[in-house]
Amino acid sequence: MTNFNFLLLPGDGIGPEVMSETRRVIDWFNGRSNTTGNSFDVEEELVGGASIDASGIPVADGTVEKALVADAVLLGAVGGPKWDELPFDQKPERGLLRLRKELELFANLRPAICYSALADASSLKRELVEGLDLLIVRELTGGVYFGEPRGISELENGERRGINTQVYTTSEIRRVVRIAIELAQKRGSRLCSVEKANVMESGVLWRQEAQWVCDNEYADSGIEMSHMYADNCAMQLVRQPKQFDVIVTDNLFGDMLSDEAAMLTGSLGMLPSASLGAADENGRRKALYEPVHGSAPDITGQGVANPLAMIGSLAMALKYSCDMGDEADMLDRAIANVLDNGLRTGDIMQAGMQQASTEDMGKAVVAELEAMSA
Ligand code: IPM
Ligand code: MG
Repeated sequence: MTNFNFLLLPGDGIGPEVMSETRRVIDWFNGRSNTTGNSFDVEEELVGGASIDASGIPVADGTVEKALVADAVLLGAVGGPKWDELPFDQKPERGLLRLRKELELFANLRPAICYSALADASSLKRELVEGLDLLIVRELTGGVYFGEPRGISELENGERRGINTQVYTTSEIRRVVRIAIELAQKRGSRLCSVEKANVMESGVLWRQEAQWVCDNEYADSGIEMSHMYADNCAMQLVRQPKQFDVIVTDNLFGDMLSDEAAMLTGSLGMLPSASLGAADENGRRKALYEPVHGSAPDITGQGVANPLAMIGSLAMALKYSCDMGDEADMLDRAIANVLDNGLRTGDIMQAGMQQASTEDMGKAVVAELEAMSA
């Protein structure tokens, strides 16, 4: 019997609402610890604007320390109009960026799966997206997000100058490419590495190092590696998204391409993500799981947010942090069944379907789990 330690950081906006439905699912698994052999201890802390309001900073040191020792961190969302005017280094988003950096979560897994029940909600034609299952692996602790020098300075001529630095080293590229290859091996074995090697030296290095890892460390792995410029990739994603299996790319391109890919599936509100660090001697990785969607201030507090991306993030935690692949699959199936049964939150509502609240969705997922395990 393993007892896992989860740190829950609901954060801002709809974060607390979708987190409480996720807790409902965790409680259900705890009620079945005799069968699964595992149980979960959960602790909650503040992050983002909620933390700013309580203590003036977007994440407290004590919270970062708890995150460092947790088996998994589950985060809801950060940010909102209330904190938009704060200086850059005090914004809610800094709390999330600090956690990513201090936990060294360099590999961000963003699956884009099109549930067949939702294919018509996509802005693309059904035949282009139905059955879509691609995975974007985004580098998360380097590149222009953290590169130095950065800042805004005054020039002698009275102008101002804003600067950020896109920078990558060999080891930063290789470690994220390795994770992408290992994941691709468990899927369709096709990996597309994305950069702008036609205009950026960091892109040239990215392309060379990605190919190096494939040729030297995974020579007989059967991985089919290709390279694509980021602008072309953005275009190909709307032209023919099913051509991709796994995409590996840098922090900034990954931010943009994963939003694009998420929207293709019919709802941003449906997609989970995992951010993983290096494996320690026991094979354990630091990990943070969060929905791809944001804090959605426009619908906060109304009980209408879609909790499925957060619940799907729990499924990823079961799979990657708890070695509970069967339970993760079961939870993913429960989510798909709830959709097949016609339940919809507002963001994915379609004619003829049944409108559900955040709580209805959470309860329906638990009911499906219950039915499956009966
Ligand atoms: C994301 C978000 C974050 C990012 C923000 C909230 C800092 O857009 O996780 O994709 O840019 O990485
Ligand atoms: Mg983003």
